[in-house]
Amino acid sequence: TARQFSRGELSGKSVVITAGPTREAIDPVRYISNHSSGKMGYALAQAAIEAGANVTLISGPTNLAPPQRCHFVSINSAQEMYDAAMSSLSDCDLFIASAAVADYRPASAAEQKIKKTGQDTMSIELVKNPDIVTAVAASRPRPMTVGFAAETQDVISYARDKLTRKKLDVVIANDVSQTGIGFNSDDNAVTVVWADREEALAQRSKAQLGRELIQRLADQLNNS
Ligand code: CTP
Ligand code: CA
Repeated sequence: TARQFSRGELSGKSVVITAGPTREAIDPVRYISNHSSGKMGYALAQAAIEAGANVTLISGPTNLAPPQRCHFVSINSAQEMYDAAMSSLSDCDLFIASAAVADYRPASAAEQKIKKTGQDTMSIELVKNPDIVTAVAASRPRPMTVGFAAETQDVISYARDKLTRKKLDVVIANDVSQTGIGFNSDDNAVTVVWADREEALAQRSKAQLGRELIQRLADQLNNS
């Protein structure tokens, strides 16, 4: 509840959050995407608003209503999310990358609907998308930068690898091979991976987890 943030831990702070999937166009009627629901990112946005922050939520397509009292930026592709993120960095204190960004996009989107041919196979050439959270962590002045790592195995070691490789302050790791948590679920269980410590948060609702994560990030921000 809002009472948990009676001290307004993030009052006067600007928080930017990416959320949801991206859609990478193949042609005017088709795209490549993933199963991200956006629920974790929207819960973080809601919690940051309750903590008094000025929140920008940059979101791919989801079925969720944008939280009230946030600056909502709706995008489709990874490139659009990248452009929106880069434009949001002036005065940003805390950047949270919860979006499931498509790693690759079709090298070119066809201008017209692609027609079925007589061939039994077809291939689409893909090119790498920019890494948004890496670019944010490399920007100057640099906001406190938070990544997510959704993994199906070796969760902590992959998360720690992302922390160092992307030069992040913290990575929130979750095991998406477990049923009932992670992608599309209302619940999640995560491990918060800092450079010098790890903290496990057992399964709970994404709304509750959002508040607990924002609390920890605010503590770190206010003590750094
Ligand atoms: N991320 C991003 N831009 C991308 C890809 C990922 O900002 N183009 C961010 C995600 O929002 C997340 C973090 O990077 O906070 C880790 O994403 P993830 O997909 O787990 O990592 P990748 O580096 O893409 O590695 P892989 O998919 O191979 O595990
Ligand atoms: Ca990825």
